[in-house]
Amino acid sequence: MSLVLAPALTDLQPGRSTITADVLAGLSQHPKALPSKYFYDAHGSALFEQITHQPEYYPTRTELALLQQVMPDIARAVGPGARVVEYGSGSGRKTRLLLQGLSDPVAYTPIEISRAALLASVTELALELPQVEMLPVCADFTGPVRLPEPAQRHDSTLVFFPGSTLGNFTHDESVQLLRAMRQTMGSDGMALIGIDLHKDVAVVEAAYNDAAGITAAFTLNLLARLNRDVGSDFDLSCFQHRARYHVPRMRIETELVSTCEQVVHVDGERFHFAAGEAMQVEYSHKYTDASFAALAAAAGLVVGEGWDSPAPEFGLRLLRPST
Ligand code: TRP
Repeated sequence: MSLVLAPALTDLQPGRSTITADVLAGLSQHPKALPSKYFYDAHGSALFEQITHQPEYYPTRTELALLQQVMPDIARAVGPGARVVEYGSGSGRKTRLLLQGLSDPVAYTPIEISRAALLASVTELALELPQVEMLPVCADFTGPVRLPEPAQRHDSTLVFFPGSTLGNFTHDESVQLLRAMRQTMGSDGMALIGIDLHKDVAVVEAAYNDAAGITAAFTLNLLARLNRDVGSDFDLSCFQHRARYHVPRMRIETELVSTCEQVVHVDGERFHFAAGEAMQVEYSHKYTDASFAALAAAAGLVVGEGWDSPAPEFGLRLLRPST
């Protein structure tokens, strides 16, 4: 039997008290809400992987194909000797293309909230890319995260944020996140960001309502996960997944709808749900060039090179600090 040692992990995974406080705060809002970052326990990350393989869910395969195609252009723009910092790394399929396509990347720091997904992907990447120093951080990337220093000198920092994960945040949160990335990349760094582009409502809605029901299982798993990790008593048979595209706001709004009148207990507190009451669990914003440029500008970034896939349209953008 051969033993493969996992790379040294910086472990800042949120604990029970943090998750409980976030859930209590969300359920006290009107309308009620739950933070979507808690989708990604080990089972949730595995379900999300399955979503990315569903025929209706176009973003992952579209972005992978686009990345593969334009990787030489990206490598030229980024230059040699970069350290790559990825926010929310998931399975690592896109990372592999990026690290193999860049010239002599020095180190790779994924920041990922799911420890299981993080260790699995980084252990695999370490075998394929032995010359790249692996410095994984298990953390919620929406807060400040101190990054481990690579052993080797790096020429620049490339922040990698694919999957249109930026779209899962509100406008103000997105600006805050982009500002944090601007700090991380420094004055001569860049960010490579994947964004899903505004398109036909039917195409977008199908992606978040796959016929096999994997997305519904994924959103409901949030409740199962909270029952296990904070001791709540959500009844999974009394909530239903719903995802609708709100055209003026250019976003998918994913909700869990209470199918009956019920009371849910969390940490000794009672939360009443009316029949038909919707709880907000996820936004997935879509972008136009104008809306994305405005967002970047609000964070002190400018959009440089950009690449779009053919329909269903998905975009990759390189951002630099504006000053
Ligand atoms: N970043 C992904 C997206 O917005 C995450 C995602 C895909 C998701 N499907 C989902 C989140 C369904 C919640 C529910 O496309």
